[in-house]
Amino acid sequence: MTTDIELLENFPLAPAAPAPLYFNTVERAWILSTYDDVRAALRSPFLSQARPPRQGRLKERTSAQPAKHSGFDSGFELRAAAGWEIKTKYDARLLLKDLHDSREIDLVKEFIRPWCLRAALLLTGTGPEHGPYLASLVDDLCESDAQPFDPFLRTRAQEANLQLDAFFHAQATGLLKSLFLGVAQTVPAFLGSAWAALLQNPDQRTELQIHPERMTNAVEEFLRYAGPVHTLFRQANADLDLSGTNIACGDMLLLRVSSANRDPQRFDDANQLTVTRDVRGHLALSGGLHHCRGASIVRVMTAIATQSLLEQPWIPEICDGVGWSCGTMLMWPSSLRVLLRAAY
Ligand code: HEM
Repeated sequence: MTTDIELLENFPLAPAAPAPLYFNTVERAWILSTYDDVRAALRSPFLSQARPPRQGRLKERTSAQPAKHSGFDSGFELRAAAGWEIKTKYDARLLLKDLHDSREIDLVKEFIRPWCLRAALLLTGTGPEHGPYLASLVDDLCESDAQPFDPFLRTRAQEANLQLDAFFHAQATGLLKSLFLGVAQTVPAFLGSAWAALLQNPDQRTELQIHPERMTNAVEEFLRYAGPVHTLFRQANADLDLSGTNIACGDMLLLRVSSANRDPQRFDDANQLTVTRDVRGHLALSGGLHHCRGASIVRVMTAIATQSLLEQPWIPEICDGVGWSCGTMLMWPSSLRVLLRAAY
């Protein structure tokens, strides 16, 4: 059993304990962190998606737009995933085969990011020759996400976004850009975080090695325990009552998703990674009006990568701790240095 102190050492960015809804005068926003409050907010038609702050605090109140759907075609990812799963699995094994035991490596740099980039290229039908260019744009976006109030990095990220818009322009709808960034930027954030958690809990790794059939459930537990989205932003588009509190039209709300996913009122031993637990209802992919349209891709990729990792003739052991980055919405390991120790 991990103690709270070990937990904080392992996860320097562990979420704050859930607390009843309150108004934070510094953030100028309502803070929601219990499971019930965050879930209710995600499902409320009176709350619209809002942008994270740019200057360290949320904008003054403005009138909010009605809640609306992204228009992303959810069938698209399933159609795309059908032909791509086998190649992606093959790629994972190929990349991991090149890593040998007794070596110290950064799993993020040597496997997670290149593999996700390849998967994103495949899914968007982009030639591998564009990989290095697109990877450098993703790097610019990640750097700015990690330091959201740095004006230089923000300008570079804006430029990267324009270049990505131009690159995927031929497909007009912008869907390919969302798909590309979801797979090349958000999935690596999650995989790094999930694997950091798994490697810090060797009993859970062993459990999965012995029972690979538990992978589907384990992926859900990775999402609950180590999902990369720590906060979502909302603005009230009407006066509403949320858990007995009156929220005025135009008010901003911060939804602490990772705290909600560790709410002990909802999940027993919430601060423990337990790949066998009943994890239904976690909020890592929202589950509300704006439910993640890439959910099945996330699940398939995480299962493929983790299964491939566990099949290797070596066991990765974390050395040097984990190098965490944290933005306004996401947190992720920018590095995951491990020693590959022979398994047999
Ligand atoms: C582990 C990786 C991912 C996580 C944790 C994640 C999480 C989320 C969350 C929490 C939301 C809700 C946002 C909100 O309510 O404001 C969301 C929305 C969305 N996600 Fe993901 N996502 C991931 C990967 C992807 C991928 C790979 C794609 C593309 C295929 C994708 C496409 C989308 C889209 C289009 C939306 C907007 C839905 C809407 O506004 O109606 N995501 N995602």
